[in-house]
Amino acid sequence: MGTGAYREQYRRSLDDPEAFWLDAARAVDWVRPPTVALDDTAAPLYRWFPDGQLNTAANALDRHVDAGRGEQDALVWDSPVTGGSARYSYRRLRDEVATLAGALRSLGVAKGDRVVIYLPMVPEAVVAMLACARLGAVHSVVFGGFAPKELAARIADAAPKVVLTASCGVEPTRVVEYVPIVREALQLVRDEGATEPAHVVVLQRDTARAELRDGELDWNEVVASAAPADPVPVAATDPLYVLYTSGTTGKPKGVVRDNGGHAVALAWSMSAVYGIGPGDVWWTASDVGWVVGHSYIVYAPLLVGATTVLYEGKPVGTPDAGAFWRVASQYGVHALFTAPTALRAIKRVDPDGAEIGRYDLGALRTLFLAGERLDPQTYHWASERLGIPVVDHWWQTETGWPIAANPRGLEALPVKPGSATVPMPGWDVRVLDQAGREQPAGREGAIAVRLPLPPGSLPTLWGDDERFVASYLSRYPGYYLSGDSGYVDSDGYLFVMGRTDDVINVAGHRLSTGAMEAVLAAHPAVAECAVIGVADPLKGQLPRGFVVLKAGADISEEQLAKELVAAVRAEIGPVAGFRDVAVVDALPKTRSGKILRATMRGIADGREVTVPSTIEDPTVLDRLRSALRPPS
Ligand code: COA
Ligand code: AMP
Repeated sequence: MGTGAYREQYRRSLDDPEAFWLDAARAVDWVRPPTVALDDTAAPLYRWFPDGQLNTAANALDRHVDAGRGEQDALVWDSPVTGGSARYSYRRLRDEVATLAGALRSLGVAKGDRVVIYLPMVPEAVVAMLACARLGAVHSVVFGGFAPKELAARIADAAPKVVLTASCGVEPTRVVEYVPIVREALQLVRDEGATEPAHVVVLQRDTARAELRDGELDWNEVVASAAPADPVPVAATDPLYVLYTSGTTGKPKGVVRDNGGHAVALAWSMSAVYGIGPGDVWWTASDVGWVVGHSYIVYAPLLVGATTVLYEGKPVGTPDAGAFWRVASQYGVHALFTAPTALRAIKRVDPDGAEIGRYDLGALRTLFLAGERLDPQTYHWASERLGIPVVDHWWQTETGWPIAANPRGLEALPVKPGSATVPMPGWDVRVLDQAGREQPAGREGAIAVRLPLPPGSLPTLWGDDERFVASYLSRYPGYYLSGDSGYVDSDGYLFVMGRTDDVINVAGHRLSTGAMEAVLAAHPAVAECAVIGVADPLKGQLPRGFVVLKAGADISEEQLAKELVAAVRAEIGPVAGFRDVAVVDALPKTRSGKILRATMRGIADGREVTVPSTIEDPTVLDRLRSALRPPS
């Protein structure tokens, strides 16, 4: 039986959000403590802690040094792909952050200015994010697996003063040179007539150094002459970062995170959800380019004075399927957070979990998984092999921290495989049907959250309140539309089943099939196309393209597929995992011309689908069935 602590906190967060969040805000050091929690004067746009002032980097670093934790490890870097490793105490990390902040300031970066960070999993990526936070500048980190065009779209939208990058990233099978990617992206930005950054700063890595050109600065030289900068107080409502994520169209959405709500929510989650506090060792095996990396590699562990592990490697192949257990044991990790796909990758190579037995995992208390649905098979495999609680939890780039979880730090609730457990405080989760009626227990519908969303969730999209409202708040007035479907069972447990839109999840990476369709449609031989996500045993989902040829197109199917795969890789990036494309004679459509993607998805996943009565020509679907079935 539980203690009831969860229920009590959850109720209080909804009945008296002011008191709940002002209480939670005491975990943060304020320059000016907030007297009010919620500002709802511009509803449906809400802001948290409107009169509070703070600095997020000072909360993550200086306050721990001041409190006597200066010599404790803040960051441990482990890089099997380069053979490198490093330890940063809180003092060292604070000093390096202050120096880079000084360097950025000397390059003209001030409060409110944007800085794009395009870096691999090196300590400097963390230093860069915190240096921006120290100045009150707004960082926008771009994942290294994106191609120049995606980087360009983000630079054009964020209009940064500076781009921070490195000479290379290191993937197990190849070295990825970043500087040519940045140059190509900047050319695209120029061609578009968008604002160019004033400076590009390059961190030279020994694996592959870059020949710098005019206007490109060497990181070490810029830092060498810099004077450390003090933290700049900002309003709680000022932006800390913009993180672009895939929407249903090709244009990524700039999710904005504020300073105050973010710090409060993350600090709360770290202790109540993850059970991690000062001195604990915490490892999130993700990438700083994703929200999981922002929240739980960088900010949350440092906000609570824990040690965070930064891992530049993969679950398998760097060098073997024991890599995660080696790292967990070497650094005495107390809790590990990763994506289910990483475990499936390990399980595929080491189905019996023999590698687990080679390491002392005595310190490891919990395994947290998110980023995609935790399938029950993977859940059972991990919990049996590791013998510790394996906790699924559900959230999104937009929300910044878990919407639903098992709050291990507050009260360990019984686990139900396949469920992300229960809504966290502040998240008033409802399952709605098409007409906006709440669904009874057990019935699937759209997962929505009653407004206001709690602190830490996105206040808007970068420079575009209208798109924010249109994308999330207008489908069901008074609610935030999550884009996921699912149901709540009679115990109040939430089961998240999948997206209702054209967003897919490939190896825990969120991608837009709309963006891939735009690439396919641009090929001269393609008349029309559709990309859908199909189930994949390793990566959860993989994109699959279907194209109809233009009349008279003179190209073999094989050649076309090759060109389309190359085009998606060049324009979106290798991370899209786009390898599979079929030529078909027609696509199933409604009479008004809308492609029936959901029906195609259903058939591809082997589900029983009801064919919409609006279908123009049902025989098209019959002809498609064999092409849709997964290749055996
Ligand atoms: N920079 C450049 N390229 C990158 C990259 C990066 N940061 N990350 C991935 N890529 C490339 C890979 O090299 C690969 O290229 P390839 O087609 O030439 O082989 C491609 O993008 C696909 O990468 P990935 O999705 O990682 O697939 P994989 O087959 O190499 O590995 C897993 C599969 C499951 C091992 C891997 O995806 C993984 O570790 N996932 C963990 C999930 C995760 O961290 N999710 C983040 C959210 S929690
Ligand atoms: P991202 O914004 O990249 O974090 O991706 C968010 C999306 O990933 C969600 O909208 C879900 O579709 C999916 N997702 C994340 N965590 C889970 C989970 N625990 N269960 C099911 N789906 C998840």
